[in-house]
Amino acid sequence: LDNGLAVTPQMGFNNWNSTHCRAEFNEAMVKGIADLFVTKGLKAAGYQYVNLDDCWALPNRDSSGNLVPDPVRFPNGIKAVADYVHGKGLKFGIYSSAGSKTCDVQGFPGGLGHEQQDANLWASWGVDYLKYDNCNNQGVDVLTRYTAMRDALKATGRPILYSICEWGSSQPWNWAQPVGNSWRTTGDIGDSWSSMLGIAHANQPLAPYARVGAWNDPDMLEVGNGGMTDTEYRTHFSLWAEMAAPLLIGSDLRSASQATLDILTNSDVIAVDQDPLGRQGTVVSSSGGKVVMSKPLADGSRAVTLTNENASTATVSTTVQDLGIGGAASYAVKDLWTKAGSSTTGAVSASVPAHGTVMLRITPGNPVPPPSGLSRLSDLTW
Ligand code: GLA
Repeated sequence: LDNGLAVTPQMGFNNWNSTHCRAEFNEAMVKGIADLFVTKGLKAAGYQYVNLDDCWALPNRDSSGNLVPDPVRFPNGIKAVADYVHGKGLKFGIYSSAGSKTCDVQGFPGGLGHEQQDANLWASWGVDYLKYDNCNNQGVDVLTRYTAMRDALKATGRPILYSICEWGSSQPWNWAQPVGNSWRTTGDIGDSWSSMLGIAHANQPLAPYARVGAWNDPDMLEVGNGGMTDTEYRTHFSLWAEMAAPLLIGSDLRSASQATLDILTNSDVIAVDQDPLGRQGTVVSSSGGKVVMSKPLADGSRAVTLTNENASTATVSTTVQDLGIGGAASYAVKDLWTKAGSSTTGAVSASVPAHGTVMLRITPGNPVPPPSGLSRLSDLTW
């Protein structure tokens, strides 16, 4: 959507994967996350949006038809929370559904038929981001429902990032570029290796549809929620960055381990996700559970993932020709997780642990600097 937002994939937090509708989803949590964005370096790493998911409202609208914040979870209303988040130099997001009710079984009121009234209310609260779900849609045509909210958001005059949450059922990659800033491509992620990997496989072939301002969304991150190992979470984060996916932290940062924070703030991996060229990486080769992806970056280098989907260590290999950057005499190679630098003339290979990913940035014609102590130009090999 050409609204000047999500020029690179959006980065932030959403409570759903860690709390669902449980009582701990409340004002204290949201404020605590905003605090940690600043104190734990997440804001500095690029995370910007602090977003509420389903269950923030009461089950009924008021007598004027307005949505009402749940007074137990949000005793000071939503605007007070948005103000707090803005006070930290961050942005604030909210959730609704393009239907009569939201997705949770309790069925909170949805936006269908109330688009402008709801958009105006959110704008008056200072909302910067809307996640708009697909439940209870009454069979109304998908394009009609999602364009109605796009137009309502625009009519508020407030820039509001528009995240379409339609789960891929109507193949939104075929229609959503002019409608939203991102669109979900699959059903909900779960905190397991098999769920995460299945979603990655479904999202990988959709690379041609992603572009600046309009991204494939393979759902929010599970990093830190406890159902995968840190090796698996590094694969999850690597693949999401390689696929130029929105990076919405889905774990409760108030209890995050150092390993979780280290994954989420890896600046080299984030730079791949946020690269200004805005291209989603593609699968270069896949056989026997060894998967190589390549993502073109603005400086002419490639971000490469070497993933081992098997249950024991394997060597995963490719070449600069297969990556689409053959022809240079040599290449600088940086391992984005270990930070080790090396060089190659063409072969790329790594031993990758079970369920692990080695992620590299490979730059043509730019070998690693020579060891110190070289005194003559002729010592240099380029
Ligand atoms: C759907 C969405 C989830 C979450 C829930 C909330 O399942 O896909 O991401 O927003 O609704 O009820």
